[in-house]
Amino acid sequence: MADDLSERLVEGLAASYGSHEGHRAAHAKGVLCAATFTATEAAAALSRAPHLAGPPVRAHVRFSNGSGNPTVPDGTRDARGMAVKFYLPDGGTTDIVGITLPAFFARTPEDLLEFNAARRPDPTTGQPDVEKVGAYLAEHPEAVAAVTAAITHPAPASYAGLTYHSLHAFGFVAADDSVRHGRYHLVPEGGEQTITEEDAAAKPADYLRDELAARFEEGPAVFHLDVQLAGDSDPLDDPTAEWPPEREVVRAGRLEITGLAFDREHDGDVLVFDPTRVVDGISLTDDKILLARPGAYSVSVARRTGA
Ligand code: HEM
Repeated sequence: MADDLSERLVEGLAASYGSHEGHRAAHAKGVLCAATFTATEAAAALSRAPHLAGPPVRAHVRFSNGSGNPTVPDGTRDARGMAVKFYLPDGGTTDIVGITLPAFFARTPEDLLEFNAARRPDPTTGQPDVEKVGAYLAEHPEAVAAVTAAITHPAPASYAGLTYHSLHAFGFVAADDSVRHGRYHLVPEGGEQTITEEDAAAKPADYLRDELAARFEEGPAVFHLDVQLAGDSDPLDDPTAEWPPEREVVRAGRLEITGLAFDREHDGDVLVFDPTRVVDGISLTDDKILLARPGAYSVSVARRTGA
């Protein structure tokens, strides 16, 4: 049975976005794609995880808009998500989930509940109450980086032209049991591709899906999976804190996204991307936001599947 905190987290999302039967409570609108992932030798040296061993593995990628409204026009200002599910040789799976924000809004689920309440749109104006958000930020300066990014980052020309960040750190356990911590960044090979807010607002509601479909006619969309290694002083349990950009980055693999995928989420098949679904070779930290996610995702899954 879901705990009260998980229920409250999902309830908080529903209060902001509405409840939409059959859809995720957040990142409700998305596009599922087929992909192949090939790890580098550097990845195999960093971690003994099976998907980082070298031979190509099949993957699904789901790009999404952050909103819990499944019909939100793609031109609406929002963070975007990229979730990857790797299909492992032993029949298991493991997931990496990234978002376009460089930092998260909160360090704890309790703070997130408070922040989501502060930024909830006023029912009469449809806009967040600037005073409430300001009061929250005055109390929680750690949220400023995420809020600033959320209100300033430009609109995407393509889901395949954005960089996505795990925000959480993970342990990378090598064959000799040594552990280094790092954060994932999914970096588009073709660089960032953005357009103005005005151009985005003038585009069709599903322009990001249409763009992907057209792009795949020409060839795959390629991302690099990078692992930014922690410095000694970098917090491992605080997704609000960006690490310095000069940290060593290990290029861990190449993700080739080849087309739209239609082989899942039919006839009761449930697809959920959960960053705590790790395998031997990857370990979790005690980041409170990371550890709150599986409970909230389970509540969302139970609601969207009617289970
Ligand atoms: C406690 C904090 C968080 C809560 C309560 C939360 C809540 C949710 C929920 C309820 C879903 C829908 C799950 C489903 O029905 O499958 C979701 C999806 C998602 N979340 Fe979070 N989330 C949190 C933190 C984060 C963070 C830190 C990131 C940054 C990487 C993130 C990125 C995503 C993405 C990309 C998806 C869509 C996954 C997919 O395509 O299925 N979330 N989140």
